[in-house]
Amino acid sequence: MYINKPMGRYDGMCLASQLMYAWRAMNDGQSNTWSETDHRLVLAPMEGVMDSIMRDLLTAMGGYDRCVTEFVRISQTTLPSRVFHRLCPELHTGGRTPAGVPVFVQLLGSDPALMAKNARVAVNLGAQGIDLNFGCPAKTVNKSHGGAVLLKTPETLRSVCAAVRDAVPPQVPVTAKIRLGFDDDSQFPVIVKAALAGGISELTIHARTRRQAYRPPAHWSLLAEATDIAGTEGVPIIANGELWSPGDVLRCRRVSGCRDFMLARGALCRPDLGRAVRAALSGRVATGANEAALNWSDILPLLRTYLHRNAAAYEPRYACNPLKQWLVYLQYHYPQAGALFAKVKRLRDFNAMDRALVAEHEPLHTAA
Ligand SMILES: Cc1cc2nc3c(=O)[nH]c(=O)nc-3n(C[C@H](O)[C@H](O)[C@H](O)COP(=O)(O)O)c2cc1C
Repeated sequence: MYINKPMGRYDGMCLASQLMYAWRAMNDGQSNTWSETDHRLVLAPMEGVMDSIMRDLLTAMGGYDRCVTEFVRISQTTLPSRVFHRLCPELHTGGRTPAGVPVFVQLLGSDPALMAKNARVAVNLGAQGIDLNFGCPAKTVNKSHGGAVLLKTPETLRSVCAAVRDAVPPQVPVTAKIRLGFDDDSQFPVIVKAALAGGISELTIHARTRRQAYRPPAHWSLLAEATDIAGTEGVPIIANGELWSPGDVLRCRRVSGCRDFMLARGALCRPDLGRAVRAALSGRVATGANEAALNWSDILPLLRTYLHRNAAAYEPRYACNPLKQWLVYLQYHYPQAGALFAKVKRLRDFNAMDRALVAEHEPLHTAA
């Protein structure tokens, strides 16, 4: 299997790429000559977590250049505009978050013509770009020919990309998100080439196979092969997987040669990760050092805002679960989140939850 093969960073690359990576490696960890604009950061699509409320909170912190919606499942029909508006309320405001960050609408499906029709609807509603999901590992989704299962049939994947590319105006970016493969990564270069042949403008790669699901590690070094292939066509590769800290992103940059990164679970665990990564990439903080993270007392008002916005957007009784879900992510960076989760995990009432957040904040506030 490709993943188990010990692979030197420079194996199979053309000379120009080797020189480019050597130059980057020299600069990484020494004088940092990268400028902030050399890199882009994308906030990942995450079904059930990264909705417009979370996108708003996280992009308001700074650092992100783009977001992607949770996937819109395309199976039998051209969906009505209300479905797109539900998953991407930002379509009402020019397809951008309140902080002005563009939001791409992600589509998941395998029928090229149907995907094309739905892409056109999303773009007519104001989507800033279309992203195509070829990475979802869910069995139910894969059984109905959606998500990562298309990695097994690169020709279909190419047809979907090409049909969507043809359907929307040339100035609207069409991007794709893949994994290294389905069962293993033996077809990885073929999959990358198929996506590029479909005319996409950028390719995000979650550096694991579908079989590897979300288990660490992510195989960043394999992305170097994709940057090599895509580099000749000028298509950026966006690295994704296990990017939890600024240091992870710097290491990923070194081994993959990627300049653009997508942050997923890490962005939920540490709400200011985007701007911390941005600072590290630009050399504003010592290479590899973590810019001081927000304190727990800074996180609590965010939690309260999140609760209130969920209550306003949905019914108040549905506002508690998203908050509990976020606490579970946050505890990886903030042990206080784990303690708070233990206190509130049985609460279902909005007012009771709100009081618990206020009670958590008060002693910190008084002490300050
Ligand atoms: C709860 C959850 C929901 C996700 N939903 C989507 C999705 O809708 N579309 C997509 O392309 N990827 C989705 N992903 C995958 C992430 O975008 C990302 O590729 C993955 O989490 C790897 O990055 P990480 O290791 O930094 O978390 C999801 C991941 C998680 C954990």
